[in-house]
Amino acid sequence: MSAKKSVVIDLKFERREIGAALAGAFSGRAVLHASDSGLDISDARYAIVWKPDPNIFQRAPKLEVLFSGGAGVDHILSMPGLPDIPIVRFVDESLTNRMSEWVVLQALSHLRQVPAYLGQQRERRWRELSQPEAGDITVGVMGLGVLGLDSVRKLGIMGFNVVGWSRSGKTIEGVETFDGGELDAFLARTDILVGLLPLTSDTRGIFNAALFGKLRQGGALGKPVFINAGRGGSQVDADLVGALESGVLGGASLDVFETEPLPADSPYWALENVFVTPHAASASDVRALFRNAEVQMTRYEAGQPLEHVVDVKAGY
Ligand SMILES: NC(=O)c1ccc[n+]([C@@H]2O[C@H](COP(=O)([O-])OP(=O)(O)OC[C@H]3O[C@@H](n4cnc5c(N)ncnc54)[C@H](OP(=O)(O)O)[C@@H]3O)[C@@H](O)[C@H]2O)c1
Repeated sequence: MSAKKSVVIDLKFERREIGAALAGAFSGRAVLHASDSGLDISDARYAIVWKPDPNIFQRAPKLEVLFSGGAGVDHILSMPGLPDIPIVRFVDESLTNRMSEWVVLQALSHLRQVPAYLGQQRERRWRELSQPEAGDITVGVMGLGVLGLDSVRKLGIMGFNVVGWSRSGKTIEGVETFDGGELDAFLARTDILVGLLPLTSDTRGIFNAALFGKLRQGGALGKPVFINAGRGGSQVDADLVGALESGVLGGASLDVFETEPLPADSPYWALENVFVTPHAASASDVRALFRNAEVQMTRYEAGQPLEHVVDVKAGY
């Protein structure tokens, strides 16, 4: 019998990755796999989950702490029978860095007209397009949490003017910030909008036709651009397609969608001014996930406060 509290894992990730990451992890603890439906997991005290099976809480009634396999927790908070125990989300430097790489790549790609040049290349066409610099553009970041703040900083390093919006007011040196009640003023300043919001009842469907209509028109890119790597449930895909087709928006980079995987008949696939990635802006590194969970378990067992605990009422 293990001396330390046991862990149950229900991660809908690549099986191979989980197996490799488990080598050497959770020393002294029994590690149980919820995917083995006949296994008795009733003694597990910790669960590490990503899109877990709905019956996990019935099967493991003694859980003390829940760990999310990703930065987002909407996949857990919507589960029936969720126990009233702390939920720790995944905060990791590598995950943050990779998200910022994706965001900066997309902002630069629209700035330097990559979609238009790719089109010209396919037509064997040699034509120089207008060339504004980053300093002519204002990028507005919605969500100034762990990921939003890092993107703000790195967009600033590339020379973009950056403004930010979040529920509570924030002070960020060199960046104009807006709080929840100042959304319209924020949008009116924004040429490239970046979504890094969690999915909550307040943010569901927030990226809709009315919002797109409030973005600044006639900036250095001509039309505003939308970049989203938060959650697909925050965007209304029909409105977004409409805004792209009608020219309210000049382009988009999308990593998340209302329906994932993105259906084969989605209009996004064929829109020339849209760049699609398959919810891959920043995947969780499973080794780092287990390392972080172990750190929190050690803290918890030593009577220290857990870090990165979700505010269940706020939904993130
Ligand atoms: N596509 C991918 O590969 C991928 C990877 C990782 C994460 N994500 C997504 O990215 C999201 C953000 O991650 P994070 O680590 O930065 O989260 P976080 O640290 O919890 O930050 C969330 C930010 O959103 C703001 N916010 C939440 N609800 C709001 C509302 N109703 N109005 C205005 N602002 C609101 C918060 O405002 P306050 O600061 O005022 O609290 C905070 O600034 C995750 O929840 C996840 O869904 C996607």
